[in-house]
Amino acid sequence: MPTLRRIYQVTSRLIFSSPLTIPSLLTRTIATATTTRAMSSAMSSATAAAKRLQGKTVVITGASSGIGRSCALEFARTQPHDLRLILTARREDALRELAAQIRDEVGDGVKVLPVKLDVSKPDEVRGFVGGLPEEWRDIGVLVNNAGLVKGVAKAPEIAEADIAVMFDTNVTGLINMTQAILPVFKARGTEGGAGDIINIGSIAGREPYAGGSIYCASKAAVRAFTDALRRELVATRIRVMEVDPGQVETEFSVVRFYGDKSKADAVYAGCDPLTPEDIAEVVVFVATRRENVVVADTLVYPSHQAGAGVLHRKS
Ligand SMILES: NC(=O)c1ccc[n+]([C@@H]2O[C@H](COP(=O)([O-])OP(=O)(O)OC[C@H]3O[C@@H](n4cnc5c(N)ncnc54)[C@H](OP(=O)(O)O)[C@@H]3O)[C@@H](O)[C@H]2O)c1
Repeated sequence: MPTLRRIYQVTSRLIFSSPLTIPSLLTRTIATATTTRAMSSAMSSATAAAKRLQGKTVVITGASSGIGRSCALEFARTQPHDLRLILTARREDALRELAAQIRDEVGDGVKVLPVKLDVSKPDEVRGFVGGLPEEWRDIGVLVNNAGLVKGVAKAPEIAEADIAVMFDTNVTGLINMTQAILPVFKARGTEGGAGDIINIGSIAGREPYAGGSIYCASKAAVRAFTDALRRELVATRIRVMEVDPGQVETEFSVVRFYGDKSKADAVYAGCDPLTPEDIAEVVVFVATRRENVVVADTLVYPSHQAGAGVLHRKS
């Protein structure tokens, strides 16, 4: 009894001598509990994401720049202890620099293999998996990101070379990469295979615009291929997913204007475009859902965009 009285005395002194009222104490207690719950749920979802990537081998095409480069960093940050990244593009130096950056940032837990690969060359793609060292062949995630746009010409003035490079890279390259890696996925597990294919499409594949007919057609082809493939693989554990960015500031527009940086900058004037990191976060999110969850189709805009040509520019 004396102990109980003592507790009562201390508690009432605390309550009545404190500037805090009972409701405010309650509010603080509830707020603290909510924050703790939110923190622990954020921690557990980060832990779950890391666990789902553990031991996996991820292939990223077009990893030398922009979205592909950011995807490599985001995968490494999400699972810094046990991951293999195969980074491919034509610019080998940029891949090697990225590999060094990843090593500096997360250490040796992420093994990185830079591979020079031009996806528009069917022979190179055909030899890709066979050319990997044995311990790198167990690929679990393919991010088909390599892609480009050339020019703003309208028919009938579109250069044949531009038509060819856009289709060879964005469409044939993506399809060939998928066909090269699918046998690895199909040989995994007992349910017809397992693995993730994440194709980077575009708003341009959903809403064609003047001056972008070939690029738009190529991204519409990516969309059709992706949707058909998901149907073909429905009896397997192979997830086929597409992420369609809106306006993202990368080297994309510099490539479109054949290296003219001032024309490229004008594309983003008065806008607040997405960053490649924004798209990388979505790519890693879809790759780290529970095995039975397929985030089949995602469209990502910056807040000033509501369609392919619907952009609010601050004057
Ligand atoms: N930026 C946007 O607004 C936007 C919007 C929607 C969709 N996308 C799509 O996002 C993807 C990435 O573009 P990004 O914005 O990050 O542009 P980016 O900065 O120009 O990066 C493009 C990447 O693709 C690679 N690539 C180009 N041709 C290749 C080839 N033949 N073989 C292998 N790699 C090749 C480039 O590497 P190398 O030059 O070293 O080969 C580079 O790493 C593309 O599929 C693009 O269509 C971009």
